[in-house]
Amino acid sequence: MSIRSVIHFFHGNICFLILVSSFLLLNYKHYGQSANSKNVKQTGSPVRERININHDWRFMRYDSNPDKLIYDIRPEVTDRNDNVAADTKPTEAAAVGSSEKVLKKWILPSANDFIKDPLKHHQRPDSDPGSDFLFVQNNFNDDEWEQINLPHDWAIKGPFYKEANAIVGGGMGRLPIHGVAWYRRKINITADDKGKQIYLDIDGAMSYAMVWLNGNLVGGWPYGYNSFRLDLTPYIKSGGDNQLAIRLDNPTNSSRWYPGGGIYRNVWLVKVNPVHVAQWGTFITTRNVSASSAAIDLKVDIENKTNTDQNIEVVTEVFALNERLDRPGKKITGYAIKSNLTVLAGKKQEIRRSINVQNPLLWGPPPNQKPNLYAANTRLFLRGKLVDEYETVFGIRSLQFDLLKGLLVNEQPVRFQGVNQHHDLGALGAAFNTRAAERQLEILKEMGCNAIRMAHNPPAPELLDLTDRMGFLVIDEIFDNWERKKTPLDFHLIFPDWHEADTRSFIRRDRNHPSVIAWSFGNEVGEQYTADTGAALAKKIYDIVKEEDDTRPATASMNYAKPDMPFPKVMDIISLNYQGEGIRDAPAYAHLRGIRTSPLYPAFQKAFPGKLIVSSETSSALSTRGTYIFPVTNGISSPVSDSTGGDPKNKYVSAYELYTAAFGSSADKVFASQDKHPYVAGEFVWSGWDYLGEPTPYYTARSSYSGIIDLAGFKKDRFYLYQSRWRPDLPMVHILPHWNWPDRIGQITPVHVFTSGDEVELFLNGRSLGKKKKAAYEYRLRWDDVKYEPGELKVIAYKNGKQWTEQTVQTAGVATQLMLIADRSVINADGEDLSFITVKVADKNRRTVPDANNKITFSIDGPGEIAATDNGDPADLVSFASKEREAFSGLALVIIRSKKSKAGVIKITASSQGLIPATVEIKSN
Ligand code: GAL
Repeated sequence: MSIRSVIHFFHGNICFLILVSSFLLLNYKHYGQSANSKNVKQTGSPVRERININHDWRFMRYDSNPDKLIYDIRPEVTDRNDNVAADTKPTEAAAVGSSEKVLKKWILPSANDFIKDPLKHHQRPDSDPGSDFLFVQNNFNDDEWEQINLPHDWAIKGPFYKEANAIVGGGMGRLPIHGVAWYRRKINITADDKGKQIYLDIDGAMSYAMVWLNGNLVGGWPYGYNSFRLDLTPYIKSGGDNQLAIRLDNPTNSSRWYPGGGIYRNVWLVKVNPVHVAQWGTFITTRNVSASSAAIDLKVDIENKTNTDQNIEVVTEVFALNERLDRPGKKITGYAIKSNLTVLAGKKQEIRRSINVQNPLLWGPPPNQKPNLYAANTRLFLRGKLVDEYETVFGIRSLQFDLLKGLLVNEQPVRFQGVNQHHDLGALGAAFNTRAAERQLEILKEMGCNAIRMAHNPPAPELLDLTDRMGFLVIDEIFDNWERKKTPLDFHLIFPDWHEADTRSFIRRDRNHPSVIAWSFGNEVGEQYTADTGAALAKKIYDIVKEEDDTRPATASMNYAKPDMPFPKVMDIISLNYQGEGIRDAPAYAHLRGIRTSPLYPAFQKAFPGKLIVSSETSSALSTRGTYIFPVTNGISSPVSDSTGGDPKNKYVSAYELYTAAFGSSADKVFASQDKHPYVAGEFVWSGWDYLGEPTPYYTARSSYSGIIDLAGFKKDRFYLYQSRWRPDLPMVHILPHWNWPDRIGQITPVHVFTSGDEVELFLNGRSLGKKKKAAYEYRLRWDDVKYEPGELKVIAYKNGKQWTEQTVQTAGVATQLMLIADRSVINADGEDLSFITVKVADKNRRTVPDANNKITFSIDGPGEIAATDNGDPADLVSFASKEREAFSGLALVIIRSKKSKAGVIKITASSQGLIPATVEIKSN
């Protein structure tokens, strides 16, 4: 028998249950959904309106609870701890909310569509709580409240908490994420809307959202990362303004990172006829995908909200999408699916059909494949009359999980060159912005990254549109914890009531995205430690995932569960965090306490010869861009401490890129481990970008040190180490450190070089310091005995004996000028689009001054605004809203946002005392 074995994931449709080795996934898309926020109708169809209502909200936030309404009683947290998890003492703790009106019973019915067993559906109690509270009432005057547009993160502008025992510590980003907040907005419902179904779709609200319309409590959704729909229809008054009031309640001690606070994603009003395609109502898979044909299976859920049974004709046509993806391109003639069904009064029913497509353009990750997409347009007719129209965007591709070759996309092997990404967008906070997310992906792509793990929660839907379009492979993840808490007020409080609804809704929303290749239903959950009990809970959630989608593998990542434990048996994929390359196993970690694990790839492979192994988290290397600390460790991986690699005074971690979290490993160590175990399908580095919160090792800072790219989007040296491995065909070589060390003349100042070549010669002021070749399992070339002298370092890299590329680094002179470089000089005048402008502090020869920290002041003229400033220093506690920012390691960032419907030239000036100012112009169209 061949040792090669391939795992296939099948679509479970009985009508089409044929063994398949591949499948297609469709991604539903509503017209214009990638527009971040347009306060206009978003649909091209006369029968389905999807209206963005991001604009013109009124907002009020309290530290206290002014309304005495609360989702549920929760334990009071008495200890504050800047480290990850302060703990509760539930028995002693006073309960928050005991004197308050608990609304849970009215909110739970919002989950019903996602609870399989009808007997477990929640009944709404008769009364209408909160209706007597002022803020929900139509005639309450909110003129004094702040006027804001969504997506909105109330916490991001700060100020940062600086004190040691702050109410929100370093773990959650030192920003005021907590409190009760209200959002109010009127929505206009015309007389024409009479008889329509009217839904409110919220893509994400942090957290414990509860929604009133015209004083009536409609429902809500506690988990801040999930998208949800509420049916407003029973409370609507047609022919005029209706008052929406949304209450959020975001507790401290509820997360291990910065969650943000507010309605931080898009919000939509959906108006449809009573017979319509249900919420996330299409699911398309394929079989037998090849370059010459593919079978497409389409499932449509149809909702009949009328009092009579309805006979419905369903027509779906398939279109090839053009490159811009914003409208269907050529219709693929002949590919129409027509069918009829009867949907009983008040019921939802599904219809399944399939077609074959000839010569499909497949979706696959660049650089070897192209992420081609299609759209399926589904129309519903009642007695010949069009009643609904719904568009689903999809890509045709096959996936195989081959135990020797790893992941195969369309039968071509693709290694995961992945990173983990949190949901925040740096200085813009959690408020979703398509361009900011696209920029993150673009910079990752430049590094050669081809895969993203959404750590550890569902992303904004538009982010998955981007990964579809750009061809990233995605592990879509939902939970950081189940029943066992990691922080006192995290998801474990609502797990019993909500895990099923959150899991099902998460999958239904994202199941059509071709970029999503696996589901992760947990990250390092505490249930790894509870043997059979934990594994049984894992199986319960696993089964829910598979009931919703059996075409993709389901897993939960493991930093503790071992091959002989029951937990990994549940998983389709062995998804390891740090255990593969070993935890605290290298000599430099010997003195540390905590879990110690030898490299476990071989043991997992032996125990699970049928399962694909991937590292869902590797590395956790730490560094502060542009800061180098001496002496430098001789080893290739070392835990950072105040005396090795760390500078506790400035809160820096050395950017020699050899220092790690206590349980981590340098990139070099991970590369070696992966190369020694080639059956491992690849890695997801912790983390791609720095993110807000979790500032290990300095919890008095605000943001993480683990990114390959800093919070402002500037590349750390590590970027080039990954690029050298992930883009072997790109001629590149990178030298570190910078060469401005006036206090180190004559002192040992190691020079390290990253290259996609295999050999490098280093020159200092024209003198060769020798040629070095990478040995087996070596990923950097190092000259550890270089004595500093000012001047020029030059490297010439070779590959296979031939000159490959070269690079120089020179000692910069004194700072004389500022320089501005915009990532985009033409942006859209939509009030959303951004230009990210890098500020360089430079000498007279335009060389960046690598240790410059001059204070820079920004001014702006024209139809734009300064959205935020940053410099990538995790310890900088100046508000992101500030128009003044110190450069950090020679660089700063200013983010410019356009104004809605105001075209023109935006002029940005940066000035700093003693330096020649700089100006750049951005055109807003
Ligand atoms: C992992 C965890 C991540 C993050 C990381 C920090 O164990 O899954 O969420 O905390 O450590 O290095």
